[in-house]
Amino acid sequence: MTTETLIRGRLLSFRRAPEDAGDRESYLYEEDGALLVHDGKIASVGAYAEVKPKAGVEATEIDHRPHLILPGLIDCHVHFPQMQVIASYAANLLEWLNTYTFPEECRFVETAHAERIATQFFDEFLRQGTTTAVAYCSVHKASADAFFAESLKRGTLMIGGKVMMDRNAPQGLLDTPQLGYDETRAVIEQWHGKGRNHVAITPRFAITSTPEQMAMTQTLAEEFPDLHIQTHLSENHDEIRYTCELYPDAKDYTDIYARYGLLRKKALFGHAIHLSDREADAMAESGAVAVHCPTSNLFLGSGLFPLKAIKRREKPVTVAVATDIGGGSSYSMFKTMDEAYKIQQLLGERMNPLESFYHMTLGNAVALDLADRIGTLDEGTDADIVVLNAAATPAMRLRMETVTSLSEELFLLQTLGDDRSVVETYVAGKASKPGAEA
Ligand code: GUN
Ligand code: ZN
Repeated sequence: MTTETLIRGRLLSFRRAPEDAGDRESYLYEEDGALLVHDGKIASVGAYAEVKPKAGVEATEIDHRPHLILPGLIDCHVHFPQMQVIASYAANLLEWLNTYTFPEECRFVETAHAERIATQFFDEFLRQGTTTAVAYCSVHKASADAFFAESLKRGTLMIGGKVMMDRNAPQGLLDTPQLGYDETRAVIEQWHGKGRNHVAITPRFAITSTPEQMAMTQTLAEEFPDLHIQTHLSENHDEIRYTCELYPDAKDYTDIYARYGLLRKKALFGHAIHLSDREADAMAESGAVAVHCPTSNLFLGSGLFPLKAIKRREKPVTVAVATDIGGGSSYSMFKTMDEAYKIQQLLGERMNPLESFYHMTLGNAVALDLADRIGTLDEGTDADIVVLNAAATPAMRLRMETVTSLSEELFLLQTLGDDRSVVETYVAGKASKPGAEA
């Protein structure tokens, strides 16, 4: 049986990256718009008066006016086993990893625990309007199984990977080069392409992988050239120093990954804060992506990512944005971009609200090479949709009284918004926002 839904409201969907705050051509905005959703895909988009006649008599109509309708939000770097690590008090990255994060991830050897947290993870992300996340699981294959099984159940487009790590962590978190390879292959065979799931090759970072494991990662990257790769790069000065000591032959941190063939399109490098010009050039030339995680960078005191400067280079680096739960301190992509904005303020740069909302949607989809499926409201793409209310709280309602433009409304959502502003989250056309109590 086919299902048809007509979703009415104010549509906003980017066509390309906005060049400035007044770049009206960069996005579609339809004041009284509608989406016709057919079998999980957007069949038609435009003015309500034009889309309505295309709907069959059986179609269910949902009127979200006066709320905004956007593509589902995308989070390009999260750690699914770190939901109980958020808000852990530590001086810096390495202390935080050793004191809280590694011990917590050891618990994911238990399937029941992994399954419980997977349920919570999907509830929380959908509550925040985030329909796609790029997730690190733990080293245990069972954690990847729990993550992908839950994603299959929810119908979400998720990217995830079993972490590979074989040194510098507690015994309970270590695999071996061979085991990491075998289990990653098993996860790919079991889950990649099942439902809307994508598997990413996931060496945690160079500190926790021996050269032998990095070589196995290279083999996987060559065997699966279309898969995403995710790892961490240049987050913290002590981390950078230690990493370069472990790989003395490499020119710098980025060169370690380059030597193992990991610098390429669809390779996502978390943080990448303190890159030299040479490293940024190498990233740009390879098409690799720097994933900016502002709440995490501030929370762990890692540094100020030069988002505007890196995009302005002669050889620009592709930038994605992410929460980095649980180093990050909020699940909300609004809070994430609010902190990204403040970081640019501290660097003497301006980031306009169009740019922020582009990054949360189409920008992240482009970085993932998935813009033909997610990140817009274009016809033929998957119907992952979020409905937003910029007057969701008394304080927002009051401020909305003085808002006179779309840009101001978006900026208000970014600055004061959170899950309360998310009226509904549609996954492949199905209303999926959990209740507040879930
Ligand atoms: N570097 C290696 N592992 C991690 C992690 O779990 N979180 C962050 N923020 N950085 C890392
Ligand atoms: Zn991370």
